Amino acid sequence: MSASLPSTLDTFTTIETRRAIKSFKEEAIPPEMLRRLLELTVAAPSSYNLQDWRIVLVQSTEQKQALAEAAFGQPQVLQAPVTFVFTASTTAWQDEALMDQIYQTALERGAWPQKTVDYFKSAIPQFQENLGDRRREYAIKDAMIAATHTALAAQAMGLASCFMNGWQEEAVKKVIGAENRSDIVVALLLPIGYAAEPRQNPGRLPLSTNVFVDSLNTPFKAVE
Ligand SMILES: Cc1cc2nc3c(=O)[nH]c(=O)nc-3n(C[C@H](O)[C@H](O)[C@H](O)COP(=O)(O)O)c2cc1C
Repeated sequence: MSASLPSTLDTFTTIETRRAIKSFKEEAIPPEMLRRLLELTVAAPSSYNLQDWRIVLVQSTEQKQALAEAAFGQPQVLQAPVTFVFTASTTAWQDEALMDQIYQTALERGAWPQKTVDYFKSAIPQFQENLGDRRREYAIKDAMIAATHTALAAQAMGLASCFMNGWQEEAVKKVIGAENRSDIVVALLLPIGYAAEPRQNPGRLPLSTNVFVDSLNTPFKAVE
């Protein structure tokens, strides 16, 4: 890691200390940190490695104001130096040039043999066509996993974030110039920056409430 990047928290501490931060300082994120954050974001897995997230970094005052309006006036979006708008493309799999790039990269790295690539060339369109209306849901899954990578990587490097569902999709699409893109779906808004104030952990339910063994009839019992 470069000298200008901060030392990072270990994984368990990162996960346990991340909070939904509602108030950010004006302080900008150094460009090198932002670049690293993006690299760690797209290190996320995706179905068939489609990498179908389309992430818009909203940074200008004008765009932040418009985005905050689309998010029912939530102040995090106005305050944070950047909000990652996680969208996903439901048609990435139909883009031949893009798919060729994905196959070629995996072949060159020796990660996927030609046999796998040949299989994917028929399996991916078949899988996507069978999805029908669920294509939206599946694209959003990929984007949400990437967003989780961002939030945790940010926390590990001393930044804070807030996962956000509170916005109107059509309004967000308009802000990011996607109002005429039926292939683009919005997954999440994630403001990122330096926390202006800490937040308490609101706590979690006991594991026996929402974890089960083998079936939903057997709550998980942790060993004492
Ligand atoms: C998918 C998702 C959407 C959320 N949407 C919002 C939101 O629009 N505005 C907000 O202030 N917090 C939002 N939150 C934050 C949650 O309220 C917060 O994560 C939860 O209370 C647990 O707190 P913690 O993140 O500090 O552990 C959202 C969280 C998630 C995971």
